[in-house]
Amino acid sequence: MSLISLAKLDDRSGKDNFDIDIAIVGAGVHSLTLTMHLLQKRQDLREKILIFDPSGDWLTQWRQQFAAQEIPHLRSPAVHHPDPDPFALRRFAENRHDDLFPPYDLPSTQLFSDFCQQAIASQQLDERLIAAKVIDLEPIMSPRRGFRLWLNNGKSITAKRAVLATNSSIKQIPDWVERIPSNYPAHRLVHSIGLNLTQEHLAGETVLIVGGGLTSGHLALGAIARGAKVLLLSRRQFKEKLFDADAGWVGPKYLKGFHAEANWHRRRDIVLSARDGGSMTPSVMTQLRSASHRGTLEFHPECEVDQAVWHDQNWQIICADGMELSCDRIWLATGTRFDVKAELLLTHVMQQYPNPLVNGFPILDEHLRWSGCELFMMGGLAALRVGPTARNISGARMASDRIVPALTKSTIRSFAN
Ligand SMILES: Cc1cc2nc3c(=O)[nH]c(=O)nc-3n(C[C@H](O)[C@H](O)[C@H](O)COP(=O)(O)OP(=O)(O)OC[C@H]3O[C@@H](n4cnc5c(N)ncnc54)[C@H](O)[C@@H]3O)c2cc1C
Ligand SMILES: NC(=O)c1ccc[n+]([C@@H]2O[C@H](COP(=O)([O-])OP(=O)(O)OC[C@H]3O[C@@H](n4cnc5c(N)ncnc54)[C@H](OP(=O)(O)O)[C@@H]3O)[C@@H](O)[C@H]2O)c1
Repeated sequence: MSLISLAKLDDRSGKDNFDIDIAIVGAGVHSLTLTMHLLQKRQDLREKILIFDPSGDWLTQWRQQFAAQEIPHLRSPAVHHPDPDPFALRRFAENRHDDLFPPYDLPSTQLFSDFCQQAIASQQLDERLIAAKVIDLEPIMSPRRGFRLWLNNGKSITAKRAVLATNSSIKQIPDWVERIPSNYPAHRLVHSIGLNLTQEHLAGETVLIVGGGLTSGHLALGAIARGAKVLLLSRRQFKEKLFDADAGWVGPKYLKGFHAEANWHRRRDIVLSARDGGSMTPSVMTQLRSASHRGTLEFHPECEVDQAVWHDQNWQIICADGMELSCDRIWLATGTRFDVKAELLLTHVMQQYPNPLVNGFPILDEHLRWSGCELFMMGGLAALRVGPTARNISGARMASDRIVPALTKSTIRSFAN
């Protein structure tokens, strides 16, 4: 892979005197989607964009999370992917029918990865990637407004416009975890983000998994496959849903009403209620039910842990309803939440350009631009504009549809809201 060297960027001859025009922070699915959409509109921008990711590669985080949970296929259908042409993935899969899973042609993990790799190669996007973490985003106020991106290699680079596609979020840790004395081995209680099934040896152990989302389902199946017994606890009834939010949320069916809602607090409530917490796909639930029939899994719906004590090399658990359980490991599949507080790169931007927030979500303009400057946000933090699927692949397309007209300065499409 040929990565651009920052040393080559000392030609600051542009009329604005910035090193580059557009800096995109993060090289995940959202960043790739935006880059592909931008280049479809303005191929000449290719030389004016740089993407930053500490891994030095595209989709590293995505690939790692799918491998760590041994996820065989995506939850979203084949029309959701980074290419601007919705049918591009289906065409790519023409001779790979085994890589499309029912009910709505869900791409296999490998197919999606191969497709993205081809998209990256088609635009030689490896050449636009800088292997560095952005550790600070400093607003530049004169002679022209822009940003200085400070990198973890001690260097910095200036950009006229910036896009945050970092997927920064806060782990949701239940209160009872905070009350546990720290006398337990760290690997005996972990959040799913820190777990990698392929490195776990669990034969004969009991694993208590907290959460009713798809992560808990995949981790449960992975633990059972490794010879463990699983206790699956959800604070509500286990919910079966094909997608995180109804398919009507990726089109006008529900988004029309959402965009017509002028009250931002109400929009926040709509986002939460459309996702309605965690849910599992029917296919994963079917596998869990058969594990339950075999005796390798116990469902504990409407069950909350009250207290956990590490004693004699295992966990003693007391639930809120008085039930007592014991296990060898606790895995928290309790998800993450989006809040600007999680995005450290916004610290100086928020001081220079105060922006209204609603429960940690910024109110962005219709192009997902931070108030008063040329900084754009993608992912979960853009939910008040994009809607309940902002963090998903479909959200990346919707965000790109809003950001691209502002970055290309072509005819600015008007969005209702
Ligand atoms: C297990 C799992 C499965 C999912 N499956 C689906 C699915 O099937 N369909 C769907 O629609 N959605 C799915 N999602 C939701 C969502 O699509 C993914 O979370 C997706 O990875 C989000 O893409 P992203 O680009 O926002 O974030 P990421 O893929 O996490 O990429 C963000 C990148 O930003 C980089 N970064 C962060 N901070 C900095 C910094 N300061 N400087 C430089 N780089 C930085 C990170 O290294 C990372 O590479 C899934 C989520 C999870 C957790
Ligand atoms: N492609 C795939 O196959 C795949 C695999 C895994 C994940 N994903 C996606 O990744 C995203 C994240 O999924 P996820 O399962 O990690 O998270 P999630 O969907 O947010 O689910 C988190 C679960 O943890 C529970 N929870 C949160 N805080 C809790 C607390 N304090 N005490 C007890 N329970 C608590 C939630 O309960 P409530 O429901 O009551 O809020 C919910 O059931 C989703 O978009 C999902 O679709 C996709």
